[in-house]
Amino acid sequence: MLRLAPAGARTIVDMSYARHFLDFQGSNIPRAMQKLVATRLSPNFREAVTLCRDCPVPLPGDGDLLVRNRFVGVNASDINYSAGRYDPSVKTPFDVGFEGVGEVVALGLSASARYTVGQAVAYMAPGSFAEYTVVPARAAAPVASVKPEYVTVPVSGTTAYISLKELGGLSEGKTVLVTAAAGGTGQFAVQLAKKAKCHVIGTCSSGKKSAFLKSIGCDRPINYNAEHVGTVLKQEYPEGVDVVYESVGGAMFDLAVDALATKGRLIVIGFVSGYQTPTGLAPVRAGTLPAKLLKKSASVQGFFLNHYRSEYQAAVEHLLQMCADGDLVCEVDLGDLSAEGRFIGLESVFRAVDYMYMGKNTGKIVVELPHSVNSKL
Ligand SMILES: NC(=O)c1ccc[n+]([C@@H]2O[C@H](COP(=O)([O-])OP(=O)(O)OC[C@H]3O[C@@H](n4cnc5c(N)ncnc54)[C@H](OP(=O)(O)O)[C@@H]3O)[C@@H](O)[C@H]2O)c1
Repeated sequence: MLRLAPAGARTIVDMSYARHFLDFQGSNIPRAMQKLVATRLSPNFREAVTLCRDCPVPLPGDGDLLVRNRFVGVNASDINYSAGRYDPSVKTPFDVGFEGVGEVVALGLSASARYTVGQAVAYMAPGSFAEYTVVPARAAAPVASVKPEYVTVPVSGTTAYISLKELGGLSEGKTVLVTAAAGGTGQFAVQLAKKAKCHVIGTCSSGKKSAFLKSIGCDRPINYNAEHVGTVLKQEYPEGVDVVYESVGGAMFDLAVDALATKGRLIVIGFVSGYQTPTGLAPVRAGTLPAKLLKKSASVQGFFLNHYRSEYQAAVEHLLQMCADGDLVCEVDLGDLSAEGRFIGLESVFRAVDYMYMGKNTGKIVVELPHSVNSKL
């Protein structure tokens, strides 16, 4: 029988209490909540997603936590997900949002072996664009407090850490090119490559982002609105770059392939320049790719975080420790400089996505979900 550890109590109760659960022992969890739901498949987030205001608060299963979200992360792939590109067989309606930081407000019996009510957690699980999300305990990690900086770890930090560790072959003196370097995941690729004693080049779209990249140790920021990336690479790095952490796709991918050194490696992290198009793809000069790779004994390899589950937990723990020790800058962009100000509330996820696709963010975009004034937790 499925049993629950209710909010505000260590007592374990039978699932037969489930229909009363939300009132149980004054747990103060409301019956209804707001969440974002994909109601039609489209890479246009505003067209695809609807704010639902009267949804039942879900119940955690035996191995689950019910997390009250306080900060949720916006990812470039939120629009791939809302377009149904992760699972072409998916049917609407479905929940959206990949990650968050919040407090455990209820949990299942098995989950109570490691967690208690009130514990702050960071997690990666579907459906984070909601006031409350059911999170499998194995997809969460305890954090010291509910801080927006911890949202940078579950998707962005782990992507940079695991991909560079598994595929990067980084070592002292190598030259690493990071594209979209000042964004959510790029900022970690820059810092981790610097920690491996590499020379790091980072592309971005503004002087403000260049200054940020300098501040986190990037040796050669390239603001592509002020300098031509291909020209800079040819002139300043005639031997080529050893490793590329490539997130942009299209013309940027082509430039990066051309800049590869002999035995260079390009890791395909994403192709954000194509995500808003109907196909989701940014066209590249694929016809000449085999010849270019052969001539340099170079390689292009894809990386998708979901295929590295076995490395994931250790990566999260390692990054959270670095973050807590002040060993890693975990830059967040809460939208304070955006036209309508800070991203507060689920309705602001829409403009946070727009803000990302206008290339405005420095660091990871985070939306704050303030708690209701009546909350006792
Ligand atoms: N493979 C995986 O498992 C995995 C996991 C997480 C993320 N990713 C990928 O990592 C990349 C970055 O994702 P993120 O969530 O961390 O986003 P982000 O870097 O915080 O934001 C995206 C950045 O890309 C640039 N950009 C935005 N729209 C663009 C467009 N239309 N054309 C060209 N550049 C554009 C902007 O930087 P500038 O204006 O400075 O160029 C923007 O700041 C994406 O490709 C994403 O899919 C992959």
